[in-house]
Amino acid sequence: MRSHDSALEYRDHYEQAVAKAAAYIRERLGERKPVFGIVLGSGLGGLADEIAQPTILSYEEIPGFPKTTVAGHEGKLLIGELEGVSVIGLKGRKHYYEVADAPMNIGILQVVFAVHVLAELGVTHYFVTNAAGGLNPSYKVGDLMILRSHLSFLPNSLLGRHHTFTRVDTGERVARFEPMNDAYDSELRTVLKVAASDQKGHIHEGVYLALTGPTYETEAECIMFRDSLHADAVGMSTVPEVIAARSRGMRVVGMSCITNTIAPDGTNATNHEEVKAILESRAVKERLVSTVKNFFRAFRERDE
Ligand code: HPA
Repeated sequence: MRSHDSALEYRDHYEQAVAKAAAYIRERLGERKPVFGIVLGSGLGGLADEIAQPTILSYEEIPGFPKTTVAGHEGKLLIGELEGVSVIGLKGRKHYYEVADAPMNIGILQVVFAVHVLAELGVTHYFVTNAAGGLNPSYKVGDLMILRSHLSFLPNSLLGRHHTFTRVDTGERVARFEPMNDAYDSELRTVLKVAASDQKGHIHEGVYLALTGPTYETEAECIMFRDSLHADAVGMSTVPEVIAARSRGMRVVGMSCITNTIAPDGTNATNHEEVKAILESRAVKERLVSTVKNFFRAFRERDE
């Protein structure tokens, strides 16, 4: 009974919880006005080292901020600069599979809590990274895929009570029915493609398929996802965040790191250890870091 009551409380006072977390962070921003939130997915936390002179907060100290429970996800928020662009780096994210057994709708609300906090802080742009399995037969382990669109089998993060949040672009209340065309901003995608152009043969643009996990996929599922749904990469995150970010009026850009590939017969023989090992390999780290740095440099120059 008590957990049901606290779930109701969470659901009904979500905006206030987000505002409280944002207020805690705002006090620590100083003169900084972050424009980009960047989510560093599993094993992609190495990118955080590129954030200059960061103020580092642990998720535990931020009131109401969901803690991460997955190995390889640290749970740190970094306020600093990436190639001269004011950013907030999120080292570690909440996955739906961690919270799917929470009562009411609060699991998915926890998954997108950080996105709403960024929006409350006036952050207008959201860069998502994740690890994904390559369904497209031309993808190799260690390649990067720019997200062009998505397919999702995760709950929509706007389900349930219509929030009173406002949009960062217009100041209006968030819509009940938000369009998802151009969810991955075409202009930012072009900037990212140019930023990745020295990674010839290792950079793709494709459709990301979001599943709940936490199991990996069967042969039959992989064949269906590849040959019937035409997904290019498969993972367990990102889409609920993108939906929340778009509903708040943020511009979104995203990139998957291909940590494993699916064989022509549909076999996905990967495991969490392999995924982590690939993300920790030097070549992959260098490709990611160089692409992300080029992107932020180009983004800054575009505004100058
Ligand atoms: N499937 C789902 N999620 C993943 C995979 C995969 O093959 N690789 C990394 N994350």
